[in-house]
Amino acid sequence: MTIRPILIHPDPRLKRVAEPVAAITPELRRLADDMLETMYDAPGIGLAAPQIGVGARLIVMDCARKEGEAPRPMTLFNPEVVWASEERSVYEEGCLSIPEQYADVERPAEVRVRWLDPEGRVAEEHFTGLWATCVQHEIDHLNGRLFIDYLSPLRRQLITRKMEKLKRDRARG
Ligand code: NI
Repeated sequence: MTIRPILIHPDPRLKRVAEPVAAITPELRRLADDMLETMYDAPGIGLAAPQIGVGARLIVMDCARKEGEAPRPMTLFNPEVVWASEERSVYEEGCLSIPEQYADVERPAEVRVRWLDPEGRVAEEHFTGLWATCVQHEIDHLNGRLFIDYLSPLRRQLITRKMEKLKRDRARG
């Protein structure tokens, strides 16, 4: 498995709508494994293919992080929210493409999501709590949407300027 570089906002590749996966090939399974490796290394709880510059509808996540809880790596191809609760909840979100910036985002508290697993089987699950927030955040990435798009234009602009500076500093070394 290979750790892939994660794109930092702003980047046009983070704003594109990703293409559905037509068939789950060994290459795509390898890509998913690389994404999990990259996510755990970061460390993070979710990662979407556009964040490593791949425009395919693929996300990985693992929100099992309570003391003593077994890891639960999940790979979701073509994930789709098929039901969302009226009840909403607020979580302080962050993003591996927007390092060290956090903000409260309100979303449906629970969602039902359908996807294809790495073997190409249809899977469906009801997500609550952090898992529900994470899966919605990652599916947003497939639609070119970042968590800062939920914030005020001013706040978004401030964060974007910080990221531009971070990228300039990193480029200088
Ligand atoms: Ni993110």
